[in-house]
Amino acid sequence: MATASVTKVAAAEKPTKAQAVVVDPPSRREFLYYIWGASIVLILGQSTAGLIWFSLPRFKAGEFGGVFSYPGDDVPEAGAAPTSIPSGRFWLSNIPGQGFVALYGVCTHLGCLPKWVPTNNRFECPCHGSKFELSGMWIEGPAPRSMDRFKTRVVFTDGTSVETNEKGDPIPLDGKQIARIDVNTGARVRRDGHV
Ligand code: FES
Repeated sequence: MATASVTKVAAAEKPTKAQAVVVDPPSRREFLYYIWGASIVLILGQSTAGLIWFSLPRFKAGEFGGVFSYPGDDVPEAGAAPTSIPSGRFWLSNIPGQGFVALYGVCTHLGCLPKWVPTNNRFECPCHGSKFELSGMWIEGPAPRSMDRFKTRVVFTDGTSVETNEKGDPIPLDGKQIARIDVNTGARVRRDGHV
């Protein structure tokens, strides 16, 4: 008896050729659910794409904005003329009694490029005459602050290493031999005022 009853119901539900299959349009509530679901998917997709974008390195090593690595031999002697690295827009500077800094080579006034003038033993900006010491410290002129610096890691031949601190102070070399320096042109330390 039970088997006969099931067969009867199934047959009744099967549409005949003459019957059109009518699909009810979504109710207003269902429609809002669909919109809401699509919005969530869109937001999640955008968030994921953003995360991937920001997790990728934005600059390659050796490109401005990335890290520049040099052997220790490229660091000038203490007090000697700084070494210009045009592709990285910085100078390698070794300050007697203080240590090593990588100076951002753009004037803090209006963005010209100060040059090292050996006869005066200082940087001089060709645009409005600001002048800076070997350490990048402001001497005179309209520049509102000393030259900025890039965070750097100095690796010594004994395996130790030192990184630039938050203030951008020079890295003491203490007579140790440098194996490598890594200058991060994506991490600029602003000098506040004429210090
Ligand atoms: S841009 Fe260097 S002094 Fe004006």
